[in-house]
Amino acid sequence: MDDVLVTGGTGHLGTDIVRLLVERGDRVRVLSRMPGTDPDVLGIQGDLATGSGIREAVTGVRTIVHAATLSPAAQRGYFRPVDFVRSPPDVDVDGTRRLLDEAARAGVEHFLHVSIVGVQQSRIPYLRRKAEAENLVRGSAIPWSIVPATPFFWLLARLHDHMAGKRVWLLPSNLAVQPGDSADFAPYVVESVSGGPGGDRTCFAGPEVLSQSDVALQYQSARGIQRRIVGLRLPGFALQASGPQTCPAGRRGTTTWAEWLAQH
Ligand SMILES: NC(=O)c1ccc[n+]([C@@H]2O[C@H](COP(=O)([O-])OP(=O)(O)OC[C@H]3O[C@@H](n4cnc5c(N)ncnc54)[C@H](OP(=O)(O)O)[C@@H]3O)[C@@H](O)[C@H]2O)c1
Repeated sequence: MDDVLVTGGTGHLGTDIVRLLVERGDRVRVLSRMPGTDPDVLGIQGDLATGSGIREAVTGVRTIVHAATLSPAAQRGYFRPVDFVRSPPDVDVDGTRRLLDEAARAGVEHFLHVSIVGVQQSRIPYLRRKAEAENLVRGSAIPWSIVPATPFFWLLARLHDHMAGKRVWLLPSNLAVQPGDSADFAPYVVESVSGGPGGDRTCFAGPEVLSQSDVALQYQSARGIQRRIVGLRLPGFALQASGPQTCPAGRRGTTTWAEWLAQH
């Protein structure tokens, strides 16, 4: 039995992590701006962007699973030009720094940071913030693990839901993706909690490497819509800037995009 704090425990991934930790008997806390009322979990109201609640949340825990994040594009379901210029540091960088500082003070033994595949190569501002957060974790005195994943299906679905209002979909024709189900990733994160500090752990991805048009066509088929897809070949610098979005040799989920779409 472990005392575990999960930041982001109310999010898509975090909800599944919390459920699995509770099921195996861990004492679980969740730090959130709006913690729920689950009787099996100690909800602590706090905000990584301001620092409120962090000290209370970390005191007495052995392990922190840091799965909180703020991606404006993911929240709204579409990209704005500003997303290619800047991304707020408040949660992913400043919040991670605050959490690490308080964790060090409290003697936390394992800081497990959830990250995204390819952030160290990417030039996309939100992914740069995630890379900064990884660097803070690596430079910390607390024993750590970093567990990266490729984009989740819920995010792809949200982005495609927004595109559904448009008749023509402009998509990169030469960017391979390997999205996965956050529910398949959660058991791997929990396994990494048991494994203890493991440094950079192998990445997680879904079972299939797909082109962006495969992803879009499967979405259209599942939702019963037809939109024209126009492929746009990204030049080398743009491909490099977006960073790799596959992890062929890593841990694989089993749920396919088509199966996930049929279930949601
Ligand atoms: N989405 C993807 O495609 C994807 C892919 C690979 C890896 N990841 C990583 O996986 C992790 C979880 O992602 P997700 O998709 O499950 O995220 P999500 O559903 O968007 O959830 C975000 C979580 O962050 C918390 N949060 C946001 N701002 C906060 C603040 N100021 N203070 C405290 N908590 C705050 C939210 O809690 P409250 O709103 O309750 O405060 C929520 O629980 C992140 O590290 C993300 O980078 C995501």
